[in-house]
Amino acid sequence: MTAPLTEKPVLVVDFGAQYAQLIARRVREAHLYSEVVPHTMPAQEILAKNPAAIVLSGGPSSVYADGAPELDAALLDAGVPVFGICYGFQAMVGALGGTVEHTGLREYGATQAQIEDTASTLFNGQPPEQSVWMSHGDSASKAPEGLRVTATTPGAAVAAIEDDERKLYGVQWHPEVMHSTFGQRVLENFLLRGAGLEADWTPKAMVEELVEDVRERVGDARAICALSGGVDSSVAGALVQRAIGDQLTCVFVDHGLLRAGEAEQVKQDFVDATGVDLVVIDAADQFLDALAGVSDPEQKRKIIGREFIRVFEQAARDVVTDRGDEQHPVKFLVQGTLYPDVVESGGGTGAANIKSHHNVGGLPDDLQFTLVEPLRLLFKDEVRQVGTELGVPDGIVQRQPFPGPGLGIRIVGEVTRERLSILRAADLIAREELTAAGLDGEIWQCPVVLLADVRSVGVQGDGRTYGHPIVLRPVSSEDAMTADWTRLPYDVLARISGRITNEVPDVNRVVLDVTSKPPGTIEWE
Ligand code: XMP
Repeated sequence: MTAPLTEKPVLVVDFGAQYAQLIARRVREAHLYSEVVPHTMPAQEILAKNPAAIVLSGGPSSVYADGAPELDAALLDAGVPVFGICYGFQAMVGALGGTVEHTGLREYGATQAQIEDTASTLFNGQPPEQSVWMSHGDSASKAPEGLRVTATTPGAAVAAIEDDERKLYGVQWHPEVMHSTFGQRVLENFLLRGAGLEADWTPKAMVEELVEDVRERVGDARAICALSGGVDSSVAGALVQRAIGDQLTCVFVDHGLLRAGEAEQVKQDFVDATGVDLVVIDAADQFLDALAGVSDPEQKRKIIGREFIRVFEQAARDVVTDRGDEQHPVKFLVQGTLYPDVVESGGGTGAANIKSHHNVGGLPDDLQFTLVEPLRLLFKDEVRQVGTELGVPDGIVQRQPFPGPGLGIRIVGEVTRERLSILRAADLIAREELTAAGLDGEIWQCPVVLLADVRSVGVQGDGRTYGHPIVLRPVSSEDAMTADWTRLPYDVLARISGRITNEVPDVNRVVLDVTSKPPGTIEWE
């Protein structure tokens, strides 16, 4: 049997750039499996991962800065194809004996690259001039021996290097960002032509590999899946069902923090499509009691995460009793954790913990299950592809992301039943209007947030009101790691605002969040 695709990854060595994950995604878009590793990982360890190719990411620092991350030349001598980007490119030039100068000239933003050889490995089939995205202070002025200079820019005499014999390549710019017009082609040329890899990470291959992996891990044990109604847990559930059939029971906890109509959708759409064994538990009282008096977002997440697990533990016992199968207690808990969750929660590269996503960071110490996270290696678009491959209906696969802690983290302030019903009504209106305007495809997600601790004066009907604001947070994004606020048409905003202030009691203002991520996050909490 051939080795699993995940055992010969394209490794992206993270030199501290915010772009490392994006590079990994671009490699996946080229249908090759990739993973991010920190630059602090010793070269032997990186090579022991059996990489099919290595990409050295950009980094925030100058190669001359104190404590600038170093590149171990062993990575370049191992016979593994290497592609250096920005900082990674300069580190490579330096390590191979070329010259990188501290010019003091910064080149930032879009610039034109002159391609010296449009038949080269990296630039084959591309025009002699292309727009590229630059962000550097230092410049390579002399290429290392044996490497051809195949592109220049106004600020960089050596902007791309290639050596087909040693399979070493690099560009000064950022091919992974959209502003580099031919960036994806350059990356694909490295992977497919330079490194000679086969684009084998397809939806069908992903499903086969992940299903096989789950089967091996779970054996003949029982598992339950925490179904939230979102894309991730639905696809995780469908995948595990494909792997172990009726050893899986899906548990849907109505924690009282759901949007209008959500429980019904899960019961109907998902079960109709997959035929999974579903148990629905109404635990709203338990969650809302535990959340009483709590306003701090991280504490809310921790509490919701903790209650989730408690409910599941009980559900697991019930599943066994109900089936009269004491011999096979539930051993595994399936969760729809994704690769960006793993990395953002500090589990990947040691990145800062921005928010403890409840499905990774907020688990209690006394957890009684072994986690199965069949999607933990995947990006969102891959999860959707896997879902489609598994026959999960479009209505679920294309659904906008919704956080596990639900409306609990969209009420700024304490969570109460009354506030939930206000938010639910406002959220439903926003969703209805966005869908009616045909805007769902343009929006990554649109959190609707209730500022429960804020009041402002208004005039509604004949009198003065002192109500709460609702925030609309429509964002466009590729993977939720970064996002921009969506420029919704004014007339759509006007309809949403008009309906919310008319139809939802206690709300007398609707405001639009016009912040990108960073600096804001997508959710308010
Ligand atoms: P932020 O707010 O961090 O959100 O920009 C990024 C993406 O993650 C979702 N999100 C969560 N998902 N548990 C989840 O399962 C959480 O605690 C959580 N917090 C944020 C958010 O909706 C967005 O898609």
